[in-house]
Amino acid sequence: MEKIISLCKRKGFVYQSSEIYGGFAGVYDYGHYGVLLKENIKNAWLKQMIQTREDVYGLDSAIFMHPKTWVASGHVGGFQDPLIDCKECKARFRADQLLETLGVIIDDKMPLEVLNAELDKLRTAGKLICPNCKTKNLTPARAFSLMVKSNLGSPVDILTEENVVYLRPETCGGIYLEYKNTLDSLHPKLPFGIAQVGKAFRNEIAARQFIFRTREFEQMEMQYFHAPAETKKLYDLWKEVRFQWYLEYGIPAKKLSWYKHEKLAHYASEAYDIEYAFDFFGGAFKEVEGIHARGDWDLSQHSKFSGESLDYYDEETKQRFIPHILETSVGLARLFLMFIDNAYTEVGEGEETRVFLKLDPRLAPIKIAVFPLLKNKPALTEKAREIFAQLKKDFGHVEFDDNGNIGKRYRRQDEIGTPFCVTVDFDTVEKDAGVTVRNRDTGEQERVELTKLVEYFKAKLV
Ligand code: GAP
Repeated sequence: MEKIISLCKRKGFVYQSSEIYGGFAGVYDYGHYGVLLKENIKNAWLKQMIQTREDVYGLDSAIFMHPKTWVASGHVGGFQDPLIDCKECKARFRADQLLETLGVIIDDKMPLEVLNAELDKLRTAGKLICPNCKTKNLTPARAFSLMVKSNLGSPVDILTEENVVYLRPETCGGIYLEYKNTLDSLHPKLPFGIAQVGKAFRNEIAARQFIFRTREFEQMEMQYFHAPAETKKLYDLWKEVRFQWYLEYGIPAKKLSWYKHEKLAHYASEAYDIEYAFDFFGGAFKEVEGIHARGDWDLSQHSKFSGESLDYYDEETKQRFIPHILETSVGLARLFLMFIDNAYTEVGEGEETRVFLKLDPRLAPIKIAVFPLLKNKPALTEKAREIFAQLKKDFGHVEFDDNGNIGKRYRRQDEIGTPFCVTVDFDTVEKDAGVTVRNRDTGEQERVELTKLVEYFKAKLV
């Protein structure tokens, strides 16, 4: 965990928010390489979900929505986690996570009364101990709303039930509200999907796991509208599609697993998570993505609360009904952490240790780095600049580096996962003998003719 967090900060991937003010818990900023990696993951997702399909449409809905949205969805009344306070050290815990640290595994959907009965048993046995200060002064669990509130558009800044608006806790809410507009403007036939990437906000009690669980995060969600009779077939299909995406981008099958939710929300017929075994968490499998069959709950609720019909008329069967929904929902930061976790590689020992990120080249923030062998030889620098300009035009994020010796430059690029480094040396300029291309994963070098360089990288990167 420390190695990955330190690399993320040192190399400009992720910073703690507001660090100069002592930090702000559960919120992170992304630096230059973090932005690029995030962008590449997002694009890989959009490519599978929209670009390579004909039946999924894009959307970018607003973070602020009519407050009734979240009453209809059940979030205002029920989007809560069980909170426990330590009266001694004032630390706060999510009850299920606290119990897990004490070796008691509970279902995270356990009703509060049952949960408190479990806690009482531990208290009586003298085992309910604060993980922080080790005292036994913990409160019973109480419901804590995860909704983040604001007063947007209100002339008064004291929040009341009348003027409160919520920052969306999930992006799919916007999709349900734009289902009708999508239907009316694009006229898709069922089944079809709407996908979007955007920020979501949750007042998480325990946001202490780096970017795994934060209070502000990006979700990538797709809602697939379909006839009820097709749920089973389509559900299995989407499970397969999403699982393949992980394999395609280099996550080994042995580090992935399916978790079947036994306790389902009352409207759901199936819910599975894709889990990944994070080295970051000592090899534990943790949820990265949820795939849920949500029935007609969402559209029925929004139809009921808005008074608008959200029916679909099937011209073939002459039937009118509310479409059912399958959802794929994944956190961008979780994927970010998963890809770095999977890519983090160390070879060698002690001073000789080489650290590199074995990222799929399509995800790597920088695709190629170009170096002149020596900094103070204008002939080398000019040629390297010329090659750099050409490669940047063709491959986008390419870096030029003439700082320090070649070994140091390789190490810098290795740590950000750059798959190829090009070195311009005296043979390049004096004998027109091409350049050296060094491979990140093997460390091997080969000579590539200048006229073939673009083709060489097209075969490896595009
Ligand atoms: N619309 C369904 C939904 O939001 P969820 O299981 O609450 O379902 C889906 O969230 C995904 O969003 C999770 O699998 C996770 O990847 C991501 N996610 C949820 N809460 C998060 C948080 N606090 N920080 C980072 N990612 C989060």
